[in-house]
Amino acid sequence: MFGYRMPTHVHIEPGCLMRLPEAVRSLGLDSVCLVIDKGLSTTNWPQEALRLLEDAGIATHTFSKVEVNPRTESVTQLAHELRIKEIAGVIALGGGSVLDAAKAAAMLATNEYKIEQYEGKNRYTNAPLPMIAIPTTCGTGSEVTWVSVLTHAPTRHKISVKGETMFPNLALVDADLIATLPSNLVAWTGVDALTHAIESTIGAASNPISDVLAEKAIALLFRFLPRAAKDIKNDATARAAVMRASTIAGLSFGNADVGGVHCLSESIGGLFDHPHGLLNAILLEPVLEYHRPHIDQRLAQLCGLFSGEAKRSSLERQAPIDQRADYFMEQIHELLRELDIPAFSSLKIPPSEYPLIAVHAARNGSNRSNPQPMAATSYQELLGSLS
Ligand SMILES: [Fe+2]
Repeated sequence: MFGYRMPTHVHIEPGCLMRLPEAVRSLGLDSVCLVIDKGLSTTNWPQEALRLLEDAGIATHTFSKVEVNPRTESVTQLAHELRIKEIAGVIALGGGSVLDAAKAAAMLATNEYKIEQYEGKNRYTNAPLPMIAIPTTCGTGSEVTWVSVLTHAPTRHKISVKGETMFPNLALVDADLIATLPSNLVAWTGVDALTHAIESTIGAASNPISDVLAEKAIALLFRFLPRAAKDIKNDATARAAVMRASTIAGLSFGNADVGGVHCLSESIGGLFDHPHGLLNAILLEPVLEYHRPHIDQRLAQLCGLFSGEAKRSSLERQAPIDQRADYFMEQIHELLRELDIPAFSSLKIPPSEYPLIAVHAARNGSNRSNPQPMAATSYQELLGSLS
């Protein structure tokens, strides 16, 4: 049965971090844990959040030990601290790693088993602690989804923990928070958002509502991501647009899932610890090419999203579907070139590791959402074509 749900209360507005005390009070919390990562410690945002909370008389703890690819051990430690300090709620201020770690810990804090035992959907018993998500990149979308993706270090693979009550209660999407994001991270996380949108609309789990959201995110990112990557500090319009697009893409894939790009990037990220956004940016084009011609019809439709000259050209409806799909892929290629996304070879992954990467990718929970069936041999063939 088709259904779309989105229980998170979302504020999208530059400067809305100021609403944090109001948000905490709206959830009835008298104590919170602010979860951040090391990358954010070079900015003033954690201090600003702490000041807002302290001025409002809200007891606040901090947890800053979240890795680039968040690990199950860190989630276990955070959940332990939440429990023994009897903290009422969690505020995640950071990129996807922080949001995913906080989301999982908020659930683990109220449930008794190890985090690995909750892999899958709705495996836990008790409702998570209330949570507020404040993204500081333009890629994750985790502020509006029910999923947390974690690295299980002993087996070097990623696990997904999902639950109907794991959606953050509230999200503050403040584009000012990405004003100091380095250009490469704007590019990588922005392409992660683009990947969320594209995979959600070409995949087997797409639906009419997620399709509309995906189209909006794709249009915004094609138009504004190059500008944002070039000068995010001074281009407030582009900054706000890519931040909005990231959350809208989250609203899309949160209900329609992702696919092969994420299956591969999560497999490689678990094994080699490369950043998620970079991996998706590298893998997006080859995986889309692999899926053709199964996705040509949808890619041809998406050409209508381009503006100006590109749109006029793409709207020549007489052109065969495969030619319009070619055109969409050319636009992807050009965008990735403009954003200086490196080639797969830059990851220096030995071909001897491809079989293991392929097995992990095929076992990913999102594998079934691909536009065509993908076995481990399919992923291995795809990886072989990249060498
Ligand atoms: Fe992603």
